[in-house]
Amino acid sequence: MLLAVDALHTFYGKSHVLRDVSFAVPAGQITVLLGRNGAGKTTTLRSIMGLTPPRGGAVRFKDRDITGEPPHRVFRLGVGYVPEGRQIFPHLDVGENLRLATRRVGESTRWTLERIFEYFPVLRERWSQRGRSLSGGEQQMLAIARALAGNPELVMLDEPSQGLAPRLVRELEALMVRLKGEGVTILLVEQNARMALAVSDQVLVLSKGTVVFAGPTAEFHRREAELKGRYLSV
Ligand SMILES: Nc1ncnc2c1ncn2[C@@H]1O[C@H](COP(=O)(O)OP(=O)(O)OP(=O)(O)O)[C@@H](O)[C@H]1O
Ligand SMILES: [Mg+2]
Repeated sequence: MLLAVDALHTFYGKSHVLRDVSFAVPAGQITVLLGRNGAGKTTTLRSIMGLTPPRGGAVRFKDRDITGEPPHRVFRLGVGYVPEGRQIFPHLDVGENLRLATRRVGESTRWTLERIFEYFPVLRERWSQRGRSLSGGEQQMLAIARALAGNPELVMLDEPSQGLAPRLVRELEALMVRLKGEGVTILLVEQNARMALAVSDQVLVLSKGTVVFAGPTAEFHRREAELKGRYLSV
């Protein structure tokens, strides 16, 4: 297991959002986290990343306890994060956005700029353009490229398909599979269950801050009607 989350409890003020959330993310696979609006998906990623530190439970990454570590430390250990709504720096150009996120790891640096351009050639063309002048799809590419520039072993993406045209969603799907082929482990939060299930190896379903299903994608499909009816908005 690359990432293990054990009995997490996370609050916003007095509001108890994550209740006893436990799951594991196996190395080299795509794990998808599904759930309705407000189920706690984003809070789960924020808890792992140290943006909203949990008040109880533990997060282990590569067998190391990272519970409550600040985001920059979690990033430096090799966790990439593509937040909901992209959140690239609108006033900085593409090059600056990427430079700020670069983390070299010596000989094992996989994601040089050249490799990133191989995946996202449009970013080379847009190099000197400000983030805000990019299209929605280009901003999503930049957000993913930025996560890769940190040479992560795990990439967590929060609803990357949101607001993308169907053609771009299919490209994103292919990208996930390609990244997995490169050995990148992926934790993907999605409302778009169709896209997520097309690429996932493991599925987690969150409802009201609790894990209500965890298993291989095939098992999810066997119980799909029930799980979708009870826990997902379709
Ligand atoms: N900053 C915040 N302060 C207080 N409550 C919050 C905050 N962020 C989220 N919440 C609440 O925590 C719960 C879980 O929210 P979260 O954003 O994790 O859900 P989500 O599954 O990501 O939903 P969505 O699909 O809409 O993105 C919701 O009830 C939400 O209203
Ligand atoms: Mg969310």
